[in-house]
Amino acid sequence: MAGNPTSIVIFGGTGDLAQRKLLPALFQLACKGRLPVELRIIGVARGEYSDEGYRQFMGSGVREFGQLAARTGEWAIFARNLFYVQGDMGVPEDYVRLRNRLEELERPAGSGNRLFYLSVAPRFFDTAIANVGASGLARIDGGWRRVVIEKPFGRDVDSAQSLNQTVHQVFDESQVYRIDHYLGKETVQNLMVFRFANAIFEPLWNRNYVENVQITAAETVPVGDRAGYYDQSGVMRDMVQNHLLQLLTMIAMEPPDAMDAGALRDNKVAVLRAIRRSTPQEAMKSAALGQYRGYLEERGVAPESTTPTYAALRLYVDSPRWQGVPFYLRTGKAMAGKLTEVVIQFQKPPHPLFTASPGESIDANLLSLCLQPDEGMHLNFGVKVPGQGMTVGSGALEFHYESAFKDQAIPEAYERLLQDSLEGDASLFIRSDHIEEAWRIVGPLLQGLESQDAPSPQSYEPGTWGPACADELLAQADHQWLQVCGTHGDSDG
Ligand code: BG6
Repeated sequence: MAGNPTSIVIFGGTGDLAQRKLLPALFQLACKGRLPVELRIIGVARGEYSDEGYRQFMGSGVREFGQLAARTGEWAIFARNLFYVQGDMGVPEDYVRLRNRLEELERPAGSGNRLFYLSVAPRFFDTAIANVGASGLARIDGGWRRVVIEKPFGRDVDSAQSLNQTVHQVFDESQVYRIDHYLGKETVQNLMVFRFANAIFEPLWNRNYVENVQITAAETVPVGDRAGYYDQSGVMRDMVQNHLLQLLTMIAMEPPDAMDAGALRDNKVAVLRAIRRSTPQEAMKSAALGQYRGYLEERGVAPESTTPTYAALRLYVDSPRWQGVPFYLRTGKAMAGKLTEVVIQFQKPPHPLFTASPGESIDANLLSLCLQPDEGMHLNFGVKVPGQGMTVGSGALEFHYESAFKDQAIPEAYERLLQDSLEGDASLFIRSDHIEEAWRIVGPLLQGLESQDAPSPQSYEPGTWGPACADELLAQADHQWLQVCGTHGDSDG
């Protein structure tokens, strides 16, 4: 990738995200020749490092998380472009020093593009943006200026609006790249290809054929050393407001007129606007909340914390396409498996001619889009069991990325997102109106949860699929949770 000289400034440059994800992703992109020819990466943090010390520190992270072992030569070349500026997010003079250093590095080329990456704790977002503005770092003279902002963007609709205002005082919306790393996942992007590049699914993708939609993002890990952050956020802010609602919009959206950031994001926001609004009481009735046993003993968790680590929700999209179809969302920590899957359960044939066994009705068709870890798709259908009679069994068509694209490893989400932000493609980033709508949807449930008389989340055993109340939520409509991905035991497709 050619283009003007570019600087990436990573605030929080020595943090976990920078070491585990950002630098490994940038290094991978460099190895693939996908970065601007002249690129500098400037880490900013409070610790004391020389440029050389920073290169070594980051090298150890890339060695651990980014397959550096076989590529020490390439790393040595890449690392020459790493620099470090010591700085405190709250000290305006530090931003002036950063500006001076940037100008010094940019001087040979005359000017350059700047990408500011906020990889710091969310409480610093406001201060960092305001200081970037006040110090003149974002002033445009020659190249472009962009800012990438990590999640969580706000805690509720008011704080998100206020953060948006702060951001817009310094950056125009077209310069802002709010990240949800799920959008960088190949299989999440494939949801659009699957729906809009195949004529056979779209005619079925509506209330006439779909019984319900289930979106699961299950994790086996407990909250671990992130307990301090997690106890303040809980599953609703950590996973539902962002990742799960993103998946819902991609499943439910209308086909965009073009694959550009405007059309795509307009249609996603339209889905969020169509989600039925509820009072806190109604929202609590349409949700099942859980907390894994042992959570209260995690270091950093308040002794009587009622923070949920599991949530299941029933939402409705009030649009002509989806009227009356329940969208079930569930996610949790310390669950039985690591799995992100979308299951579309189709309606059963209107007139039952066959049975699975005497008195037992046949299964509905299921389409499973497995987003991770066994990336692929499964389509389940009824098939005649050989022999006498007309008994119907269950058959499946499967597709697995791993076997279909043997030589093409699935890239890390951050690779795609960093490259897009450098190329100015905001399609896979979140617009200000989207983030505010998403908070409006989870707001009533958060209010219900945080009210005085809120019931405590139901306890569930670690290593299970969550609390019993989540099954009861679906049973109300005679539905049950479905898991297709990982149940066939055949990954050769
Ligand atoms: C993050 C959440 O955004 O996503 C974490 O803060 C969660 O709590 C993670 O573990 C899950 O991401 P992935 O890519 O492993 O599904």
